[in-house]
Amino acid sequence: MRERLTSLQDEAAIAIANAESLDALRELKVKYLGKKGELTSVLRGMGSLPPEERPVIGGLANEIRAQLDLLIAEKESAFEEAALNEQLATETIDVTLPGTPVKLGSIHPLNLVIEQLEDVFIGMGFEIAEGPEVETDQYNFEALNLPKEHPARDMQDSFYITPETLLRTHTSSVQVRTLEKKEGHVPVRIICPGKVYRRDDDDATHSHQFTQVEGLVVDRGVSMSELNGVLLALIEKMFGEGTEMRLRPSYFPFTEPSVEVDIYHPEKGWVEILGAGMVHPRVLEKAGYNPERYSGFAFGIGVERIAMLKYDVDDIRHFYNNDLRFLRQFRSE
Ligand code: DAH
Repeated sequence: MRERLTSLQDEAAIAIANAESLDALRELKVKYLGKKGELTSVLRGMGSLPPEERPVIGGLANEIRAQLDLLIAEKESAFEEAALNEQLATETIDVTLPGTPVKLGSIHPLNLVIEQLEDVFIGMGFEIAEGPEVETDQYNFEALNLPKEHPARDMQDSFYITPETLLRTHTSSVQVRTLEKKEGHVPVRIICPGKVYRRDDDDATHSHQFTQVEGLVVDRGVSMSELNGVLLALIEKMFGEGTEMRLRPSYFPFTEPSVEVDIYHPEKGWVEILGAGMVHPRVLEKAGYNPERYSGFAFGIGVERIAMLKYDVDDIRHFYNNDLRFLRQFRSE
């Protein structure tokens, strides 16, 4: 029996030494030391031994079990260490390597101008309003004192969708929408930036789609001189202090009197940047404001005009072609 035990011990020791994986080791543990393992089955024969030998053989069996347990544990930790080392070797990170630069986009120049305009007007107590680009004839024309046969409709060659809906030709359509929402309350002080559409042939200065910022102020006692002050503040913020401005008498059906506003550009001379005027009493009336009691002014700024002057852009189409060489120039603003 003693011999069977020692030969079992030798055989197990060799098998453990040759095991190639953690799984193989676990199988060996079951095979030799498990409840149904070989050591147990040898010990089952203990009953046939003389009583004085039993403790000796029992002791030997315990030693062998302890020794094989130890061998297995050592081998197990060797496998675990090897696996860890391999993981460490393959997952090293060189923290001194230079990073991958993150590519940043830039804000589109038209949006830059819109943001600057919003800042200026919010600073003067205006709120931002919005309206739909697909607009009704009613809001785009009728409510702005441009009835069907009015000759001024020709000034704004439109994209009609149905006889009663069109792509808005100007952001002025938001004026009446805003007034209706305010339901006769004052003060009204809004600007509305947005896209507008006209059936123009595209060239260096025309585009069938362009951008405006509409402004509207309605309250008691609003005067032309307040309009003048707001415009001057706007122009100095956008083009620098001391920039000269002039108001030229003009005509818009929705304002009376109406003006066009020019600024003086050192190279280009006087350049028009917006239309404005005192809100026509009929527009106020149609929107539910009594023109005897309230007055207001409105203006429509050409965003492309401002961007072209400010950034010295010579062709309006640059804004829409999305040539990265053009757009990247606005990165640091
Ligand atoms: N809607 C005009 C246009 O597109 C611009 C304009 C002029 C807007 C005078 C106004 C205004 O609000 O008062 O040409």
